[in-house]
Amino acid sequence: MSNNEIIRIAIDGPAAAGKSTVAKLIADKLNYVYIDTGAMYRAFTLKVIEQNIELNDEERIKELLTHTKVSFKATDNGQIVYLDDVDVTKKIRTAEVSQSVSHLAQLGEVRKDLVVRQKKLAENHSVVMDGRDIGTTVLPDAEIKVFLIASVDERAERRHAENLKNGFSSHLEELKEEIRERDTRDETRKESPLVKAEDAVSIDTTSLEIEEVVEEIIKLVNNYQKK
Ligand code: DC
Repeated sequence: MSNNEIIRIAIDGPAAAGKSTVAKLIADKLNYVYIDTGAMYRAFTLKVIEQNIELNDEERIKELLTHTKVSFKATDNGQIVYLDDVDVTKKIRTAEVSQSVSHLAQLGEVRKDLVVRQKKLAENHSVVMDGRDIGTTVLPDAEIKVFLIASVDERAERRHAENLKNGFSSHLEELKEEIRERDTRDETRKESPLVKAEDAVSIDTTSLEIEEVVEEIIKLVNNYQKK
């Protein structure tokens, strides 16, 4: 198998399991395109909030999607997320968006629309895509599928450190509760619930360093290329 072949790496798992950190590092190392599908749900949620639309008003939300653009740009300082050509990279990480996004992600119309966009973004080049339904729905034929897990305590501590680093106020116990609630919503929703694809490799990152997780996934890629 040639090294020029397109390889799509799907990374799924619950909130704050380290998916985006790991996915970005792998994309950098392998020179693949990184696609943060959670950022697409978040950017769209921000627009719904800014337009004062109720989170369960599926008709208006569906209509809003038809004139909403979400795009990415890779820079040396990380990825920039644009909502209708405006940089919203920071705004989509606020507590307000974090609390609202999983409600919107439950809506079938929203998922259908964003999944089509995500499939298009992964066409014709090697990608690392992270989310909840990448290995099951967006890229069911992905060459590499990984499911990252970590304990709730560990995930809350990681988010806490990240919030503080980004200058957001943060409460550890509230984060634990929020992560538990989001897990339940993501796992029990009717449309594309968070489940491990049968052929995905599970990696428990609780006691692993980020670099160790990255190495494990790179090994999977190398083994695939040797086949
Ligand atoms: O990974 P994240 O925290 O940025 O994701 C934000 C929300 O979007 C989260 O509630 C789950 C949802 N999501 C999803 O349902 N499917 C995806 N592919 C990515 C994210």
